Amino acid sequence: MADAMTQSLTIRRPDDWHLHLRDGTMLQAVLPETARHFARAIIMPNLVPPVVTGAQAAAYRERIMAALPEGMAFEPLMTLYLTEETDPEDVAAAHASGLVKAVKLYPAGATTNSASGVRDFDKVRATLEKMAEIGLPLCVHGEVTDAEIDIFDREAVFIDRVLDPIRRATPGLKVVMEHITTRDGVDYVKSNPERLGATITTHHLVINRNNILVGGIKPHYYCLPVAKREEHRLALRAAATGGDARFFLGTDSAPHLDELKEHACGCAGCFTATNTLSILAEVFEQEGALDRLEGFTSLNGPAFYGLPVNEGTITLSRGEPVVYPDKIDTEAGPVTVFDPMMPLHWRVD
Ligand code: NCD
Ligand code: ZN
Repeated sequence: MADAMTQSLTIRRPDDWHLHLRDGTMLQAVLPETARHFARAIIMPNLVPPVVTGAQAAAYRERIMAALPEGMAFEPLMTLYLTEETDPEDVAAAHASGLVKAVKLYPAGATTNSASGVRDFDKVRATLEKMAEIGLPLCVHGEVTDAEIDIFDREAVFIDRVLDPIRRATPGLKVVMEHITTRDGVDYVKSNPERLGATITTHHLVINRNNILVGGIKPHYYCLPVAKREEHRLALRAAATGGDARFFLGTDSAPHLDELKEHACGCAGCFTATNTLSILAEVFEQEGALDRLEGFTSLNGPAFYGLPVNEGTITLSRGEPVVYPDKIDTEAGPVTVFDPMMPLHWRVD
């Protein structure tokens, strides 16, 4: 509920429907940044080696829970990395046990640690059919990887050449288009009401491609899918703040050490876990849609996944701009926190 007088906003505790926690010392450093505000998150499986089997997902879940600081509550929603060797029965068992909440499709070579992804979609047909049967959603990194396709066109081409054919071939399959970055992605979701949702990141509501490239290259704004033209950012803002329940938050918070971002071949990924909720409140306020923030962060995702909404709440208060750290420390070095280039007036109490 939004209260104009006290400038405070209480919402159901949010969830993050697309998160990279990594492993080892990085996991230890970034997990509290998410768990501080979020009750649950869909955990991306693109470790090295990837989380492919139910047994690997169970082991990764244990490592996450072991890294959670005392007194913090957090539920990792595990995913499996789809490969051409994935066994549909293993997927079904991992789902039946309650461990796994989605399967992730990376086209081979599309992004960080995606070398084991899918090249030949016929080879995963049996798994997709099984998932449709048991109601397990497919989370899709929606970019083609063909060398001749311009990087700024890869999402739109993916929708036509890969996503639409998959959905036609397996009509019962629930699909989440992850981190959409284009008007084309928004339009595709809107025109396909059946079993289709999309996550939108925090940073794609804030930056367009100029922020990466104008005035010197800014590696901390480089992520995949890469930010597009301003018209696409505006389409994403309209979708996120418009109240359509098929759009929900997936931060894609993707930490990389600064030394690997600030590099001749810099890694893709923006680290937004720390300040995401302040940024989102600012964006929703700018759009006159603070009353819709809760739907985007806390209600639409559980509805799509068929999970209960969280019992707890968080309260955001408006006041003097909040100062977040520029970087968080990990044992291996610093990780830069996404800079939204605007004052953030909302703090999480
Ligand atoms: C992600 C990562 O670093 O794992 N990077 C990114 O730019 N978003 C991978 C991904 O989700 O594409
Ligand atoms: Zn991601």
